[in-house]
Amino acid sequence: FLEQSEGGIEFLHCAALKACPVGGVLDVLASYNKNEDRPTKHGAECASIGEVVLAQKHFPNENIVFDSPCKTIPELKYALSNSIHLNIDSLQELERVKLIYQSGETHKGGSIGLRVNPLVGAGALGMFSVATLHSKFGIPITSITAEEVADLPWINCLMLHTGSHGCGLDLLVDGVAKVVDFATKVNEISKKKRGAAQIRTFDIGGGVPAILSTENEICKFREYAQSLKERCPELFSGQFSKIVTEFGASMFARTGWVASRVEYTKEIIDEDQRRRTLVIIHAGADLFLRKCYAGTGCHPLSLHSSKGELLPVVELGEKHSLFGPLCFSGDELSEKNGSVEFARQAVPGDIVVVHNAGANVISLFNHHCSRNASQVIIFRSNEGDITLNSVRSEDSVQGTVAFWG
Ligand SMILES: Cc1ncc(COP(=O)(O)O)c(C=O)c1O
Repeated sequence: FLEQSEGGIEFLHCAALKACPVGGVLDVLASYNKNEDRPTKHGAECASIGEVVLAQKHFPNENIVFDSPCKTIPELKYALSNSIHLNIDSLQELERVKLIYQSGETHKGGSIGLRVNPLVGAGALGMFSVATLHSKFGIPITSITAEEVADLPWINCLMLHTGSHGCGLDLLVDGVAKVVDFATKVNEISKKKRGAAQIRTFDIGGGVPAILSTENEICKFREYAQSLKERCPELFSGQFSKIVTEFGASMFARTGWVASRVEYTKEIIDEDQRRRTLVIIHAGADLFLRKCYAGTGCHPLSLHSSKGELLPVVELGEKHSLFGPLCFSGDELSEKNGSVEFARQAVPGDIVVVHNAGANVISLFNHHCSRNASQVIIFRSNEGDITLNSVRSEDSVQGTVAFWG
């Protein structure tokens, strides 16, 4: 993004906490902010007041963005009185914020944005597409005019998010271009009315495709920024003094993996009269919710010996199906009714690694079957030196029991 800018633009890259709220990971991001020479800053995009308070443990208030379609009046006041950037999600919320703002009691000068639904349609996965006619998010671009926004000079940001997984770069760029055009109109009106551009911050949301299939391996931030520059050069030319991004899956997915001991194996002879080993491990739909319930996400599996040596995936090797620990049959990490073939048959004590688990995995953990949430270890590699740091301990059985009251 910085490469595309002609200078003078502040970039704030907010990590979508819903993808990875682990404190130790946020500490890593926050540590980059300590380097004064870095022209870009990191912050947090928050989908709830809980995420806002979590973000405050790691980032200064001015690096926090509060999005949510369901903010209460006390939550709005909390954001406004703490100078946390607020993106208003609906016309009703706009009325609430107008009243709070006009009362003057709580607003301490944080910037206020309006989330606009650009109505550019759905990507490949309806569940993650939000720029549709039926979307619950944002104010449809056809439901508010540039004149109406220009009548609210305290709105100084426009925000959009077209969708996540499955929205190709072209669709994302379409969404941004529509809202940049809208912002340009607001600024033309405000310049005539008040002699100054009103929309100075532009928040492009998240959504760069992360991992849908093994072919889609490369994270496309540079390509996205280049396409945005081609399609809406105004974004990088200084019309806006600050650009905010809210990437989640693309930022974290590849950075993490889940490792589990094989607890048990069972042997069956399958429909093709081949031996297949059913493998039971300690991670399933309690962590890989999207994979198990919605069939989305791409999580390659690898088998390692008890000492960690990789036993490669091979064609016509030993067939395996991998299952989690939960008490229902959809708790499967291999493709549904599918299999993965390893160089040898898995045995109890081996280790299974589930890849691409850095985003929307621990953040979606659920207590179905009262399993404990797992330990989280951060690894850093410095010229071959690897350091490991436990940043979250595994929950105790007592803790999990306490969850149920
Ligand atoms: C408002 C908003 N911003 C950012 C994100 C993060 O999207 P992604 O993980 O696809 O980058 C989401 C995802 O749901 C979102 O709703």
